[in-house]
Parts: sequence; structure tokens; C-alpha cells
Amino acid sequence: MTSSIESSETFQIPLEAAEAYEEAFVPAFFSQWAPVLCAAAGVIAGQKVLDVACGTGIVARTAADLVGTANVVGVDMNDAMLTVARRVRPDIDWRQGDAGELPFPDLAFDAVLSQMALMFFPERAAALREMGRVAAAGGTVAVLVPSALDVQPAYGPLVDMAAHHAGAQARSLLSTYFACGDLDELRSLFASAGLRVMATSGHAGTARFPSVDALVATEVESTPLRGRISDDVYERIRRGAHDVLAPFTAADGALEAPFECHVVTASKP
Ligand SMILES: C[S@@+](CC[C@H](N)C(=O)[O-])C[C@H]1O[C@@H](n2cnc3c(N)ncnc32)[C@H](O)[C@@H]1O
Repeated sequence: MTSSIESSETFQIPLEAAEAYEEAFVPAFFSQWAPVLCAAAGVIAGQKVLDVACGTGIVARTAADLVGTANVVGVDMNDAMLTVARRVRPDIDWRQGDAGELPFPDLAFDAVLSQMALMFFPERAAALREMGRVAAAGGTVAVLVPSALDVQPAYGPLVDMAAHHAGAQARSLLSTYFACGDLDELRSLFASAGLRVMATSGHAGTARFPSVDALVATEVESTPLRGRISDDVYERIRRGAHDVLAPFTAADGALEAPFECHVVTASKP
């Protein structure tokens, strides 16, 4: 996970950060969910598919393998992410745009997908309404988000430990990813956006890091938390992470932290 990608208010990140996201985090984390999301949405040949907040485009690329390149569009507000998406797959249509105001006409897509992004949208119901607006009647809107922290076997204890050392600011800054994890709230969010929830499912995946220190660097150093705590507190968090993540750390130091997600699949009435 890359908190730096989402912690910027403008979401404009340097190109090197987007390249690093594609090179390191897509294979180690984001790629595993794309087939899950496409399957949950029932994406099949011939459909038109939109990937909202596509980042470097892993969901759009996965969907393109199912429906054909010409039938897929990816949209994101971040220029650097789109530059990488275009470099990797120049044949897909990549557009710059805000999930809260999608640059597409009504009823344009059979399936509208979004992976690991809803929690970062300032107006989540409005974004879901937009996803519904651009979906065809009877079309599908499917969203994948991390489950709540209290069911995360690795990240739950990790954030508790960081909050123990660095207080409520640590909990709040490290919890963004899990902000849409309550399934009942997610269901009501879809309903308030005029979408009919057809299915929800839980998926157990893995966040892979070369070491515990690499995870701490990603999750702490790339948020404002690092600037707000002393070197001593940071060191205590690093040591604490080695303890709480020990069950998920292999002999060579590599970390495979379990990571739970929800997929919500809805129909546009
Ligand atoms: C964690 S990344 C996930 C990217 C991609 N879906 C994936 O699975 O690799 C979150 C993405 O959401 C995008 N994003 C955040 N807020 C957005 C908004 N309001 N409109 C469009 N994109 C947004 C960011 O630019 C970033 O690319």
C-alpha cells in the first residue's frame, strides 16, 4: 500500500512515485484484486467497461483481456498515474477526470468498476451516483475496498501499536485505507446513490513487503505522521512492528501480511 499516493490533497504526485507504484506495489499488492473485481462484476466479452480511479490501470488491463482493448476506459485524476498507464498500455483509452464528476455521458458502460479508491473520494455517495449515472440500465457497478481495521489480522494490531506510541494522530493517519470497511455503511452508501446491491463478498489477500522495515517506511514515512513524531517514537513504532508482524514474517525477513477486502456488486435500476 502506498499512503503517499493518497495523502496528497491534489493527488498530483511525481512521475517517479507513479512508476514506483507500478513497479513495486502493483505486483506486490494491487494486481491480486483485479481478477476478483472483474469476476464479481461478471465482466464478459463484448461489454463496455470503465475503471474509475484507475491509477496505473491494473483493473482496466485485466478487463481488456476479457472484453477487448477497444471496450475499456480508465479514468483517474492523477496525471502521473495516467502517464504510466499510457506507457504500459498505449492501446487503452486513459482519461483524466474526477470520480465526483465523470467525463462521460449517461448510460455509457455495461460495467463500472473501482478498486482501492472509494475511501479516498471526498464525496463517496456523489462518486457512486456518478458511477451509476454512466452505467447502462441494468448495468453493474462494482467496488473493491479494504475491510475494516478490526478484522485485519496484521494491520489492526499494527495500527493499535502505532497509536499506543504516537496517539490518536497515528490511528487517524494510518486508518485512511480502511475507512470504507464497514459493510453496512457501504450498503447504505450504495442505496443512497440509487444503486441496488446484488451481492457482497469478502476476499482474503496478502500485502507483500521485502521486510517489516519496508512496510513501516511505506505506511509511516510517506504520511504526515513521520514529520509529527520524534526519531525515538518512530524507532519504537519500528521495533513494535517487528513484534506484531512476527507471525507474518518469513525466516529471510520477507513479510506476507494478510489483507481482507470487501467487494460490493450493485445493479443500476
Ligand atoms: C490506491 S490507488 C488505486 C489505483 C488502482 N485502482 C489500483 O487498484 O491500482 C488510488 C487511486 O485513486 C485516485 N483517486 C483518488 N481520488 C480520486 C478522485 N476523486 N477521482 C479520480 N481518481 C481519484 C488516485 O489518483 C489513485 O490513482
